[in-house]
Amino acid sequence: MQVMQDYLKTEVFAEATARATAYAKLNLHLAVKGRRQDGFHNLESIFLTLDFGDALQIEAGGAAGGLEIVMEGGMAALIAGLPTDENIIFKAVASFRRETGWDQGLRIRVNKMIPPGGGLGGGSSDAAAALLAMNALAARAGCPPLSPAQLLRIGAALGSDVPFFLSGAAAAWVSGRGEVIEPVRPPAGLFFVLAGAGFPSPTAGAFRLLSEARRGGSPLSGGGPAGGRRLIKALYESPVDWPFWNDFLPVFLREGAASPENCPPDSPAGLGRGYAGILGRLKSLGAGFAGLSGSGSTCFGVFTEKATAENARDALGGELGGAGFAVLAQPAKARPAS
Ligand code: C5P
Repeated sequence: MQVMQDYLKTEVFAEATARATAYAKLNLHLAVKGRRQDGFHNLESIFLTLDFGDALQIEAGGAAGGLEIVMEGGMAALIAGLPTDENIIFKAVASFRRETGWDQGLRIRVNKMIPPGGGLGGGSSDAAAALLAMNALAARAGCPPLSPAQLLRIGAALGSDVPFFLSGAAAAWVSGRGEVIEPVRPPAGLFFVLAGAGFPSPTAGAFRLLSEARRGGSPLSGGGPAGGRRLIKALYESPVDWPFWNDFLPVFLREGAASPENCPPDSPAGLGRGYAGILGRLKSLGAGFAGLSGSGSTCFGVFTEKATAENARDALGGELGGAGFAVLAQPAKARPAS
């Protein structure tokens, strides 16, 4: 697969500075298959890149080996307590330096708009954008750039969603652990309202909960005979007819329904109770389809009329309260391969 070097509008605008937009993704469909030897699960998913994301600015300079990461913007407070060496951007820089030997000092500013732990791929997209921007800066400084295959290898080691973002695909059928990416045409004329209560849903914990539910004999959601081809074809039909599902959602909803009213809002049960309310509200506000992205915590509604979508965003924005999140987005434009 070809990695687009100009992905995310990466642009070297001065001798030693690069800017990139790290777009968010939605999982319109997410089937979690069996657990693999390496502990990860095989997936089958329809990924859609949105025209909404984080803005990165990467400046090279200062002492060799130095690294400063500044997180700003609406969602930065949610990761304020994260130790720097656990920030996926820090890990991306360390991997890139190990692989290339390019140890120019770096200052990275991130305008964080994508909620962390929101199932929108924010961290993975930041990592992909940082890798591509560093590759452009290193090349400009005379260091041989990494090949697409090398970038994909170090990206996959950083996180399962990173290869999708490196691919630059506007939409894709994604399988394997997340590294098998078949680009598809994004659907046209749709508006997506993203809504969350403002609590992260830890990915590893969500997979554990799903495994427990399956060990306990819980039926899998909507397994059905739908093959990948049929699902991809459905992407271009009216959202009212979308046969998509998310295997995490029924597990979270069941937790929510079975727990007392006062369960903590950031527990799986609390999140599940929140999803039930938000998904119902998206539907009542006119969404043709409503679902959960990734392993949570962002719900999304799909609308065919912009005004209806704007109204839903405004209504949910008001109802979700202080930490809540409601945004209107559209599919990102397809980007040409370099
Ligand atoms: O790769 P990523 O950082 O997104 O994965 C976080 C955790 O989610 C993994 O440690 C694993 O427990 C789980 N996971 C999985 N199968 C995948 C992706 C993630 O089991 N395909």
